Amino acid sequence: MTTVRARRTPTEMPLIAAATGAVPSRRPVWFMRQAGRSLPEYRAIRADRGMLESCFDADLVAEITMQPVRRHDTDAAILFSDIVVPLKAAGVDLDIVPGTGPVIASPVRTAADVAALDRLEPDQVGAVNAAIGRLLTELPSTVALIGFAGAPFTLASYLIEGGPSRTYENTKRMMLGDPELWHTLMGHLTDVTIAFLRAQIDAGVDAVQLFDSWAGTLSEASYEAFVAPHATRVMAEIEGYGVPRIHFGVGTGELLAAMTRVGTDVIGVDWRIPLDVAAERVGRDVAIQGNLDPTALLAGRDVVRRELTRIIDEGERAVAAGTPGHIVNLGHGVLPNTEADAITHAVELIHSL
Ligand code: CP3
Repeated sequence: MTTVRARRTPTEMPLIAAATGAVPSRRPVWFMRQAGRSLPEYRAIRADRGMLESCFDADLVAEITMQPVRRHDTDAAILFSDIVVPLKAAGVDLDIVPGTGPVIASPVRTAADVAALDRLEPDQVGAVNAAIGRLLTELPSTVALIGFAGAPFTLASYLIEGGPSRTYENTKRMMLGDPELWHTLMGHLTDVTIAFLRAQIDAGVDAVQLFDSWAGTLSEASYEAFVAPHATRVMAEIEGYGVPRIHFGVGTGELLAAMTRVGTDVIGVDWRIPLDVAAERVGRDVAIQGNLDPTALLAGRDVVRRELTRIIDEGERAVAAGTPGHIVNLGHGVLPNTEADAITHAVELIHSL
């Protein structure tokens, strides 16, 4: 058993209160991809450094993680990293290509490819650990630090396709055509995900989010058969550490109940179904997060006010019906073309409405 570093006081944090069924001192908000290209200070600091190189530089990780908190007054910081960082650390030859995303040098397609994958050792993500230590002293006591990992399915989709995909045809070919190899690969990725999350929790993060961003490409039956057993193992391992878990994917309206059943404290919702409908679908044991269409932030303040008013309304209705809490967020990440001021304004609005 590893010893977990003494945490800050979670009950002081509105985000942790909302995630655990307590009453937050103000309505919590953060944004997926809040650290990144929407911020001029991010573009400046990243001007002459590669994405992956930056993710392994503890000073830079801490600084970029702080940027949106300083500028927007969000209720959480999300660690600046990427879902492929633990794969890179464990020796997979990959890069993050601007405008494209993760690209894998040799896609993983055969039993020999799967057998050649190495485990993740905690010291391989030592820079992430060091960055978290720095952030815990720098962050205000009310601002939660969220660690994260890619879920096994989303990691598998990058490894097998070799990069982003619209159809996930190679991934589904292995999943449906060679279930034994599929489950071997997913078992390995589950170990990597658990090791990466455990390292962040040992270093002191206040909550974790599991990004199964592309799970929405699956039917519920496929999700249950090929993904849920592995996601369940991740969530069960993390439960013992006592930090709230958030589970999120895009286009997952039909999967929300299944994604909740694998074990989570908060379920992330994209913009395709109303937030109160999502809350009903997942039952009243989990808090809800998300639902603002990221493009709303491009469409002017009236649109943002109208959408946030609806989301807050639906969130309040869900909480009145027994949902443990509501965290305001987008339905997916901040788009790079978003004006930084639009985000600051949205946070002010959420805290004042
Ligand atoms: O602010 C934050 O949310 C924290 C940082 C963060 C990044 N990636 C930084 C990043 C987080 C949480 C991620 C997770 C991530 N990475 C996911 C899950 C979340 C989601 O969006 O669904 C996924 C699928 C990835 C894979 C990935 N990495 C993509 C699709 C891209 C974008 C490609 C592009 O350039 O449009 C990346 C690169 C990436 N990750 C950037 C950032 C800030 C852009 C790199 C740059 O600045 O050049």
